[in-house]
Amino acid sequence: MSHKIKTLSEYFQEYQKSIDQPEQFWGQIAENFRWKKPWDKVLSWDFEGPSVKWFENAKLNLTENIFERQLPNLGEKTAIIWEPNDPKEAERRISYSELYELTCQFSNALESQGIQKGDRVIIYMPMVPEAAIAMLACARVGAVHSVVFAGFSSTALADRINDCQAKMVLTSDGNFRGAKNIAVKAVVDEALERTDCIEKVIVYQRTKEEVTMKAGRDVWWHEVIENESRSHAAASLDAEDLLFILYTSGSTGKPKGVVHTTAGYMVYSHYSFSNVFQYNQDDVYWCTADVGWITGHSYIVYGPLLEGATTLMFEGVPTYPHAGRFWEIVDKYKVNQFYTAPTAIRALQAYGLEPLEPYSLDSLKVIGSVGEPINEEAWHWYHDHIGKGKCPLVDTWWQTETGGIMISPLAGITPNKPAHASLPLPGIQPIIVDAEGEELKGNNVEGNLCIKFPWPSILRTTYGDHKRCKETYFSAYPGLYFTGDGVKRDHDGYLRILGRVDDVINVSGHRMGTAEVENAINEHPKVIESAVVGYPHDIKGQGIYAYAICDMEDNTQEELILQIKDTVRKIIGPIAKPDAVQIVPGLPKTRSGKIMRRILRKVASRDISNMGDTSTLLNPEIVDQIIKGAGL
Ligand code: WTA
Repeated sequence: MSHKIKTLSEYFQEYQKSIDQPEQFWGQIAENFRWKKPWDKVLSWDFEGPSVKWFENAKLNLTENIFERQLPNLGEKTAIIWEPNDPKEAERRISYSELYELTCQFSNALESQGIQKGDRVIIYMPMVPEAAIAMLACARVGAVHSVVFAGFSSTALADRINDCQAKMVLTSDGNFRGAKNIAVKAVVDEALERTDCIEKVIVYQRTKEEVTMKAGRDVWWHEVIENESRSHAAASLDAEDLLFILYTSGSTGKPKGVVHTTAGYMVYSHYSFSNVFQYNQDDVYWCTADVGWITGHSYIVYGPLLEGATTLMFEGVPTYPHAGRFWEIVDKYKVNQFYTAPTAIRALQAYGLEPLEPYSLDSLKVIGSVGEPINEEAWHWYHDHIGKGKCPLVDTWWQTETGGIMISPLAGITPNKPAHASLPLPGIQPIIVDAEGEELKGNNVEGNLCIKFPWPSILRTTYGDHKRCKETYFSAYPGLYFTGDGVKRDHDGYLRILGRVDDVINVSGHRMGTAEVENAINEHPKVIESAVVGYPHDIKGQGIYAYAICDMEDNTQEELILQIKDTVRKIIGPIAKPDAVQIVPGLPKTRSGKIMRRILRKVASRDISNMGDTSTLLNPEIVDQIIKGAGL
């Protein structure tokens, strides 16, 4: 497709055009897609409401833009390559025409099982092509999918089901992950005891472990598709009809359902994929994320498939059965673009260069990073040893809420600068503000990152709670979308993301709200109060450090610490389990009762050189006790 930027001067031209005439800019790009009815207006917006509408009153179906639009040229091209967890199991290659038929067949099955346009469908599945087929089939019938990462606990799953009042769950009997075999269906069964909106559960058979099937509610994937036709007339959707909800953590309360709508998300996920990775027709592209995260949505499924790309899906983990697995897969399929998270890079870096030795990695042309700031050491290791110094490294900054990559080099076009996300994509207008909301212009400035103009895949709301959307993103600085990240513009005008400035911690590229972890810890009957902070962690980027005031009557500290960690694992999932728990006699509080987290962060980082002003504390003596308790 056209609109692929090829040179740096073209980038600057396109960028300028996107700022001067945004409607014309995006209107022209959107003309490449297939519409059932054209739009009346490209964009209406205000960030007060907030209310953003792209391609107003247009009608379309996203999957027609993957299939009907591209099949005449791509029919037999491989759409998805699937590499199983166990390298001894056979891989799968699914062509565009097969994927089309499988999507149609499952669309028919969804409808036969009672799904209608607008219904919410939860996808809680392993990394198998059927997870992508499930998403595409929802999009085809106009149902709203909400993928829940299959590592979340039954409680977390139930919360999400209840929040969006889903009608159906798509899941599997079990999941293979590394040496583990996880009983997924059992987690779903447990979650469903706490919900009453689910009418049907469709179970994909993956591990062939025995599971309980509840009569009238649970049905097998292979049985429901058996007699369904492999053609399906795509539903006609409004440009602003919901495409999906994806839950993500914030600084307060429970995870919120970020809402993305059909047309804008389609246009931007495709545009950003095509330009950032500079995909060419015969390339094999691999993003190692899970479809449970936004990266999997935009850059395993939607962006690549809208480009007609071959996208690789990997079921397993980077270190199974050995620490060279990623590189083995790169060589096996001659992967050209490889996109992963800094945490994976740091974890593999820790194994040294030996696991790399058997592999040439010659096919690689572009390597990418996402999910958290990449430190310079990891950047260089990735660039030198994986990219062999010849591949541009795209450090892509974006968020669940932004739907697509916002700030990133364009591969081979934007000069590479270690650890810098660099420059905004066309259509993206970042501004840096100070605490008062004053714009910091010019170079060599550091502040909070906001965006001042809508782009096509900006979140539209948080599901069922528009007020929360306004408060979280559009209230800190009226008239601006606030990202929650700190940023620096260096002397060349290149942007470097500094990390979260709110109470969100980024653990292995996964967002966790400190309040969410605290709420889970407080569920333990012996916990009186808790406070959670992040601290620098060599592999995970940030680790979770929890302070808890406990009733110590019948337990030892060691017992309580283990129980507290386990409580969090059960309530949220293994990814939220604290790395460290410290039992404390009290928490440092100001006279207004606010916990002084700055102090807790310093102790967790084992840096107590300068504790700053503690005179406003109600209980200054607690600081020394906490330091002592941490063994410092
Ligand atoms: C962080 C993931 C630095 C950031 C796509 C953001 C990054 C949060 C980068 C969103 C990057 C993501 N450099 N930080 N290249 N990419 N982040 O919603 O703090 O899971 O706000 O989306 O991850 O995480 P989310």
